[in-house]
Amino acid sequence: MSLTCVIGIQWGDEGKGKIVDWLSKHHDLVVRFQGGSNAGHTVIWGSQKFILHLIPSGIFHKGVKCVIGNGVVIDPAQVLKEIKELTMRGIAVKNRLFISDRAHLVMPYHKVLDNLAEIRKGDAKIGTTGLGIGPAYVDKCSRLGLRMGDLYQPDYFKKCLKQNLDEKNWLITNLSPYKSFKLEKVYRDYQNYARKLASYVCDTRVLIQEALEKNQRILFEGAQGTLLNVDFGTYPFVTSSNSDISGVCAGTGIAPQKINRVIGIIKAYATRVGSGPFPTELSGEMEERLRRIGGEFGATTGRARRCGWLDLVSAKYAIEINGVTDLSIMKLDVLSQLKKIKVCVAYKYKNKTYKHFPGNASVLENCQPVYKEFLGWNEDVTTIRKYQQLPLKARRYLNFITTSLGVKIKMVSVGSERNQTIVL
Ligand code: GDP
Ligand code: IMO
Ligand code: MG
Repeated sequence: MSLTCVIGIQWGDEGKGKIVDWLSKHHDLVVRFQGGSNAGHTVIWGSQKFILHLIPSGIFHKGVKCVIGNGVVIDPAQVLKEIKELTMRGIAVKNRLFISDRAHLVMPYHKVLDNLAEIRKGDAKIGTTGLGIGPAYVDKCSRLGLRMGDLYQPDYFKKCLKQNLDEKNWLITNLSPYKSFKLEKVYRDYQNYARKLASYVCDTRVLIQEALEKNQRILFEGAQGTLLNVDFGTYPFVTSSNSDISGVCAGTGIAPQKINRVIGIIKAYATRVGSGPFPTELSGEMEERLRRIGGEFGATTGRARRCGWLDLVSAKYAIEINGVTDLSIMKLDVLSQLKKIKVCVAYKYKNKTYKHFPGNASVLENCQPVYKEFLGWNEDVTTIRKYQQLPLKARRYLNFITTSLGVKIKMVSVGSERNQTIVL
């Protein structure tokens, strides 16, 4: 039995999509377990570039089945858009995509509430994607949410939708110039989505269980990253789901002891999009350089990503939380041609040295990173496919990461294309 999880170790956008696509050829099922269309996973092969928000990045491999698990919050219009785009570009989705009947729906009022909450927060805004993710998870926990399966019980769906609209319309019309949502219109739109998605919706837990019984190989694709996790991330500047390993069980119905491999995806530097503490954040020319060479612009919102040095304090923390067994270091190529590369090994705050990632936001906001410096390399690494052929200075940097984190590097990515991957 092979159950592998791919988890982001930083603040998302580590390159999970690339690695999930790469690993998918060795799997039968690829499963998303949390998040929603806030995710933007880029897969590039040849001259083809795809950005997936809800459909798992395993979809490009013919024999692979893709599952959107119960822990994901689903904007049905977005799934339909992705299905249409993939189909038009020659990727078969029918009979290969399965959507959990227990997954919660993102409703149009969630997006409005998301944006209103951000406006109300002013300078303290989270910088959300504005796609209604937070409010959809709020409704799930408030036991008000509507689920994919409810779409197929029209009377029940309408009754619950009315209950929701009574509350949400009151909030929206009292707090903003927005107009209220009309029950009949929202109901009709969602019944329309339901019709188009009917052949995809099922009890995905059963599907996963059957795959387990057949000894099939399952790959779980995380969205976001551990530092955006609602429990262990840089709260309150986080997303609203468990983007760490804990989300896998809750978001799919799999038992924890079945998981035997956890691949931590980490960039050779760090990025963050949206607000919140980022101890190793750079500014000026160096940040600009990383952003330009690394193409650090959000795959979902197009926003410029904040860039900084690799932070081993937060990486160690994320590795412990997830029980990471293998590391995949991404975007090593972006660091080529730098004279010096820094890596954070501790934080200093008020004369105290922190080697463990603190839960306190003000420590994270105001601490000084303690850096170790490495000499950079001038060689282009993008065509290298064997670890031993990497420049010695690059290997020194990577060896330091492995030793500090206590986890073996199993993959090094040296370009965005599928094949620009070194497997150790
Ligand atoms: P995800 O959300 O974790 O799947 O990551 P994103 O797709 O949002 O962002 C990662 C970006 O880096 C994408 O544009 C990828 O095509 C690109 N990428 C992935 N690996 C590499 C790499 O090794 N080198 C370079 N230069 N780009 C990479
Ligand atoms: P992938 O899967 C990077 C960030 C947002 C914001 C915070 C909360 O591509 O790595 P939300 O809309 O989730 O309520 O926003 O989380 N965020 C991401 N940042 N990559 C992502 O996904 C993200 N998904 C959400 O920018 O700071
Ligand atoms: Mg992304």
